[in-house]
Amino acid sequence: MSHNLLKGKKGIIFGALDDKSIAWKVALEAVANGAEIILTNAPIALRMGSIQDLGSQCNAKIIPADATSVSDLENLFKNSIDEFDGKIDFVLHSIGMSLNVRKKRTYTDLNYDFLMKGLDVSAVSFHKMLQVAFKLDAINHFGSVLGLSYIAAQRTFPDYNDMAENKSYLESIARSFGYHYGKAKNVRVNTISQSPTMTTAGSGVQGFDAFFDYADQISPMGNATAEDCAKYCISLFSDYTKMVTMQNLFHDGGFSSTGISQEVVNLFKK
Ligand SMILES: NC(=O)c1ccc[n+]([C@@H]2O[C@H](COP(=O)([O-])OP(=O)(O)OC[C@H]3O[C@@H](n4cnc5c(N)ncnc54)[C@H](O)[C@@H]3O)[C@@H](O)[C@H]2O)c1
Repeated sequence: MSHNLLKGKKGIIFGALDDKSIAWKVALEAVANGAEIILTNAPIALRMGSIQDLGSQCNAKIIPADATSVSDLENLFKNSIDEFDGKIDFVLHSIGMSLNVRKKRTYTDLNYDFLMKGLDVSAVSFHKMLQVAFKLDAINHFGSVLGLSYIAAQRTFPDYNDMAENKSYLESIARSFGYHYGKAKNVRVNTISQSPTMTTAGSGVQGFDAFFDYADQISPMGNATAEDCAKYCISLFSDYTKMVTMQNLFHDGGFSSTGISQEVVNLFKK
């Protein structure tokens, strides 16, 4: 149900690849809540994915941008301001990729060229996006910028591999840039640490099904779905959370605060 929480607001959404993507659900929810949006993804993803369908559903322009390219990002933000005839109110960074995970390199046998590429795509791109927006003064006062993270930034999940470091770096950028953007323009910067979710990026992690079921059994409320995550994003883009910044916010059905659940105790009972 829509509450028009984003009526009159304009946003850029990175990372909708297909209808499983978290960004896809955020786009639909933002438009249902009265926002106007622009969709963006890497040029190759635009060719492979089904983002054109989402564009039609959301009446949204699609502007390609490789999030690791500063010139692509400048072009995206400038064109978005022209298209909206005004500045931007919210941005979602929903981007993650590890070449080491993709190529099945283990954590004790990482390829460092792959590591640098994954870091650039998954984390440094967040800084690049913020810096481009900051220099262009592209975001309205009390605008909101969100990245998506995972609890492997704080705790070890062996198969999450070098994505764990990428997420730690991403969360740190939210704090550091959040300070500067807050001081200068009252712009908020946060990350949401989401439950395991069945998407293309998620299922790329080895043993993802076990990962997913384990988290679901530990969390008192079960795993948060992509749809739940989209709703949480809308609340953080809205004026109801205008003083929330520099936070990593767990959206995980209670997983991050739970040691063990009765379901897991039962599994180990002798
Ligand atoms: N799925 C999960 O279990 C889970 C859990 C917690 C956090 N997250 C995070 O949520 C975010 C979205 O992932 P998702 O699960 O919806 O998967 P997804 O595969 O649907 O989305 C990942 C997106 O990143 C985009 N991308 C990759 N390289 C890019 C580049 N160079 N420039 C621009 N875009 C690029 C892809 O095209 C894709 O749209 C990621 O940051 C992911 O790490 C996912």
